Amino acid sequence: MHAPNGEPKSTVTVLLTAADSQLAKALLRTLAKAAYRLDGRVFRVHALSHAQLDIGDKQSVAAAFAHFNPEWVINCAAYNAVDRAETAADEAYRVNSLGPELLASECALTGARLVHISSDYVFSGEPAKASELALNQNGITRSGLIESGLTESGLIESGLTESGLIEGGLTENATPAPLSVYGQSKLAGEQAVLRILAERAIVIRTAWLYGVDGHNFVKTMLRLMATIPDGQPLTVINDQIGSPTWVDALAHLIWQLIASPLNVGCGSGLFHYAGQGQCSWYEFALEIQRQALALKLLDKAVPISAIDSLSYAAKALEKGNKLAARPSYSALNSGRVRQCLTGQNSTSTHSPELWRDWRWQLKVMLEDYAAQVY
Ligand SMILES: NC(=O)c1ccc[n+]([C@@H]2O[C@H](COP(=O)([O-])OP(=O)(O)OC[C@H]3O[C@@H](n4cnc5c(N)ncnc54)[C@H](OP(=O)(O)O)[C@@H]3O)[C@@H](O)[C@H]2O)c1
Repeated sequence: MHAPNGEPKSTVTVLLTAADSQLAKALLRTLAKAAYRLDGRVFRVHALSHAQLDIGDKQSVAAAFAHFNPEWVINCAAYNAVDRAETAADEAYRVNSLGPELLASECALTGARLVHISSDYVFSGEPAKASELALNQNGITRSGLIESGLTESGLIESGLTESGLIEGGLTENATPAPLSVYGQSKLAGEQAVLRILAERAIVIRTAWLYGVDGHNFVKTMLRLMATIPDGQPLTVINDQIGSPTWVDALAHLIWQLIASPLNVGCGSGLFHYAGQGQCSWYEFALEIQRQALALKLLDKAVPISAIDSLSYAAKALEKGNKLAARPSYSALNSGRVRQCLTGQNSTSTHSPELWRDWRWQLKVMLEDYAAQVY
């Protein structure tokens, strides 16, 4: 990959949409740490904000491609307001489905490649429940050592890996069944991208993203824990299970997928990626508080109480807020993308944070956050 004088042989031009998103900021941060070089190539990134590029506008998309002539496009734009999407379906579909379709069409015309991000909310959680039931009837528990792999349903249960981490969650074979407009529009978007670009696209479903920038559950919890009146408990849902994901780890993964050719047989297409392991929002909140206290991001512990989704939705409705339905189980299994990336010679594939337990990823994020705050 190097010219005889040792200079990188090629420059890769990348167009990023939604420059102000959590993900775009993490992509820029992680690439800057690598001095804009991956596997001997220089990466030149053009990050366009929503105001600079509306991905739902055909002419704007065509103009951006004509101007920057990207080799790769990473779509970070999304209509992410899950509850609001229920009453703003047109806009949710314009951003989450039409936008990716327009980007994919332009990539097809120009030969560019597209990384598009989808969501665990394309799932309902129901097949997972059925599979769990089957497992329990067979006497195999989630903490068991048997890699039972209910691949037909897409659920791989248990399976302690060599590193001792529990791998579980829904694989790419699981059948999507979105419960919300947001989930439906995200599913339509990923399907459009894969239909138009097939192996020229990389679609990554991820989940429960958080990082130092933007709005996310971790920052919301820290704010509420710091401001809630004394003695009043924080009430958090305990019957939705998912995989918290540090956005910087996702950013690392994306750069690795772009920088290194995938193992034979992997091709491109659909991948799941999330922090390893799974928890409920309630367990996530408990861990955020535990770690934030240890890092002195919080002065004192506040009581955190668990609530089920139905009761939480009923309380929200009393206050005039109608909540969208969310999957009861949407933890993602990252096994396929991990298998595709491991074993390559690329130095950039050795990012240990990618395959670490979600608690470890949370710790690194909170340390970064603490360094910003102090
Ligand atoms: N956040 C999560 O927990 C989560 C979970 C699973 C999957 N994902 C997916 O991961 C990806 C990155 O999410 P994120 O959390 O980084 O997003 P984010 O921080 O919520 O940012 C979304 C960005 O999209 C922009 N945007 C909205 N409509 C647009 C349009 N028509 N054209 C261009 N930009 C537009 C927004 O700009 P404005 O603010 O100006 O509207 C905002 O900058 C998304 O595809 C998301 O669906 C996220």
